[in-house]
Amino acid sequence: MAVIQITSNDTWQIQADGHPLRGTLQVPGDKSISHRALMLGAMAEGTTHIAGLLVGEDTCSTAACFRALGAEISDLNATAVTVQGLGMGHLQEPADVLNAGNSGTTMRLLLGVLAAQTGRFFAITGDASLRSRPMARVVTPLLQMGAQIWGRQHHSRAPLAVLGQPLEPITYYSPIASAQVKSALLLAALHTEGTTIIREPHRSRDHSERMLQAFGACLSVDEATCTVSLEGPAVLKGQTVIVPGDISSAAFWLVAASLLPGSELLLTNVGVNPTRTGILDVLWAMGAEITLENERLVTGEPVADLRIRSARLQGTRIGGELIPRLIDEIPILAVAAACAEGVTEIRDAAELRVKESDRLKAVATELQKMGAKVTELSDGLDIQGGVPLQGTHLETYGDHRMAMSLAIAALNATGTSHIHNASAAAVSYPEFVTTLQQIA
Ligand code: S3P
Repeated sequence: MAVIQITSNDTWQIQADGHPLRGTLQVPGDKSISHRALMLGAMAEGTTHIAGLLVGEDTCSTAACFRALGAEISDLNATAVTVQGLGMGHLQEPADVLNAGNSGTTMRLLLGVLAAQTGRFFAITGDASLRSRPMARVVTPLLQMGAQIWGRQHHSRAPLAVLGQPLEPITYYSPIASAQVKSALLLAALHTEGTTIIREPHRSRDHSERMLQAFGACLSVDEATCTVSLEGPAVLKGQTVIVPGDISSAAFWLVAASLLPGSELLLTNVGVNPTRTGILDVLWAMGAEITLENERLVTGEPVADLRIRSARLQGTRIGGELIPRLIDEIPILAVAAACAEGVTEIRDAAELRVKESDRLKAVATELQKMGAKVTELSDGLDIQGGVPLQGTHLETYGDHRMAMSLAIAALNATGTSHIHNASAAAVSYPEFVTTLQQIA
């Protein structure tokens, strides 16, 4: 068995022995869907019931912000969470600064909501990582809608201040495919009179569109042109949301079980929304043996059980419209590529530089420390696979997905790996390391 220890200085110490991964796992709830269920529940009339909510640091930040805005949200750790909504435009002015912690989704989507709360003042901040991340991508179009937002660096960095205003609908051609930008504008548009149209260069995840329709918003999607139109103002009604497992968390097990010979894992109840399944398309192209079983639709989202058997992986090319469909999975795909045969090229992924860490730099630096042949490019990575990995001291840069990706790299390395600042994983997957201890 692999030896996995959590040391007192926030380090995971992993000594692998090539032991296969076997068993059945349920990954935690989808982070994107969990944020949206809390937010729409707080803005809707009546009660929203949420099952399967992710209780990670990021969704706790969203719940804390909406509680401060007056919504009644029950204990997140209960099997069923209830949100007593305030109704559209009725969020209260909090007496203190809102804190989005490490969560870009909380801050960006919330900016769209707050901008429309006429006559109320809000201040919002986050941790050091979030305060360094670009907010102009949502602030600029919100200003076009008539919002009043102030912040550091020409209103592009938190802390940000918002004075709620009556907003106007706009037609916005987003320069980037970003679900956070699209969703912030949709949430603002709910409060306007008329049609807001948002067009993206490629399709980003569509959980907001699906959930807004379920809550009663008048919204249409043209997939061919990546365009969403929303007719405001909307009256949202509380709903029941059953949150599926997060494919971005499943991704670590998809890669781990593919790489470790003799493995077979069943991941039950995973969200397989086509705007999120780029990881499956890439792993299949690399030769992975993954099958979807028991495919079904659960409160408007496609769900399946995923069976993974180990396989020999080959290098591949990842770029273009695939990138938004696997934007959060590139660190773990880089680990798969380092252990595959041949070369993997990742392109069009400059967006990774402004995630929870600069993920292109972080992945290249840490995998190089393990002996992998990785070249960092301005918008991607070149990875020459098949060079044996060696355990060493590794840094997560406080980034949850780096922590978990490096743990899977360590499972495929000789010697001992020490992953420092490993508790960052709790942002999206607090049980990750205990699950790893159980199945490895
Ligand atoms: C998210 C969208 C993605 C993703 C993030 C969650 C969301 O960001 O990276 O982890 O819930 O909308 P962008 O769409 O801005 O790239």
